[in-house]
Amino acid sequence: MKKKIALAGAVLAGGAILGSYAVAQEQLPTHLKELLELGMHPGHTFMDEGRDVFHNLKGPNGKTCASCHGQDGAGINGKLNLQGAYARMPRYYEDIGKVADIDLRILSCMTKYMGFDKNDKEFMKKFNKWNGPYRVPLATYVASLSNGMKINVKLEHPEEKEMYKLGEKLWFMRVGARDFSCGICHTVLAGKRIRLQGLPNPVKAKVYTHWPAYRFGSDRMWTMEDRVRSCYKAYFLYVNKWDEKKDWVKKPPPYSEWVIALELYMKHAANGGTIEVPGLLR
Ligand code: HEC
Ligand code: HEC
Repeated sequence: MKKKIALAGAVLAGGAILGSYAVAQEQLPTHLKELLELGMHPGHTFMDEGRDVFHNLKGPNGKTCASCHGQDGAGINGKLNLQGAYARMPRYYEDIGKVADIDLRILSCMTKYMGFDKNDKEFMKKFNKWNGPYRVPLATYVASLSNGMKINVKLEHPEEKEMYKLGEKLWFMRVGARDFSCGICHTVLAGKRIRLQGLPNPVKAKVYTHWPAYRFGSDRMWTMEDRVRSCYKAYFLYVNKWDEKKDWVKKPPPYSEWVIALELYMKHAANGGTIEVPGLLR
């Protein structure tokens, strides 16, 4: 117990890199540490699946991800190299005219460049599902191509600056039946426990370094999109009716600006942290 309090203290004191490591490890029970020591990270199966999809899944127009991004995402003639791309995301993309996170970026490539159809309900259902064949495995694989690199999110493009401002606002905005905000749990109450789970501080602790992450308790791999939307839903951070004053939505839909703005806010705070994915959580 004493050790846990000391670790939480280190995070609150702003022990940046030490802090992120401490939080991730503090929440990891012995049986999971043992799995890691044996080299059996359950998230690796998703990464391997993603690598397979990346090289072998052909879109309706016959292209694979590797047709443009090269073998192992290393690019073709120095172009469209994906190694290190995740370290800079979310960012603004000229070709789609939007700030995208990894989920939306992959969806855009599949629909814009591989011939999949956004209006095909079956395809979208398959894409959205956390245990579907495309989004989570591909995101995990592409993110892993930035392992060992430092997060380096920039706020250069005006749209990136706008998104960041929105993210910061949403983080602290109280909303919903409980009048909670992300910040109440993760900034004000950080280090305390809720439903027996330690409350991490995604802003100070640079937790983004270990996302996408495998959650052992629920046996699933998820991206930060899934995590943010799940906190919205689980903690009632929405109003049932659109409320212009509150500028918030009923359970934000996937790849919406509310979710991406919060991701940008948190990832910017994680700048300088070293990417190590997939993460492993209890
Ligand atoms: C026909 C070519 C093509 C195909 C096929 C394609 N992409 Fe892309 N991809 C692009 C282009 C163009 C961009 C935009 C690059 C930019 O603006 O920097 C891009 C950007 C990306 C980025 C962001 C790169 C960065 O530097 O931030 C990721 C990640 C990505 N693609 C993943 C994928 C995945 C995964 C697949 C397969 C499901 C795929 N792409 C298929 C052309 C393609
Ligand atoms: C009522 C408290 C509460 C609120 C409000 C809340 N969360 Fe969470 N959040 C949690 C709990 C509990 C966890 C799970 C910790 C664990 O996995 O052990 C969590 C986990 C997270 C994580 C993963 C941290 C890690 O260790 O990697 C992120 C990121 C996150 N929340 C973001 C958000 C965002 C963004 C919002 C606002 C939309 C939000 N949360 C609102 C309680 C909350």
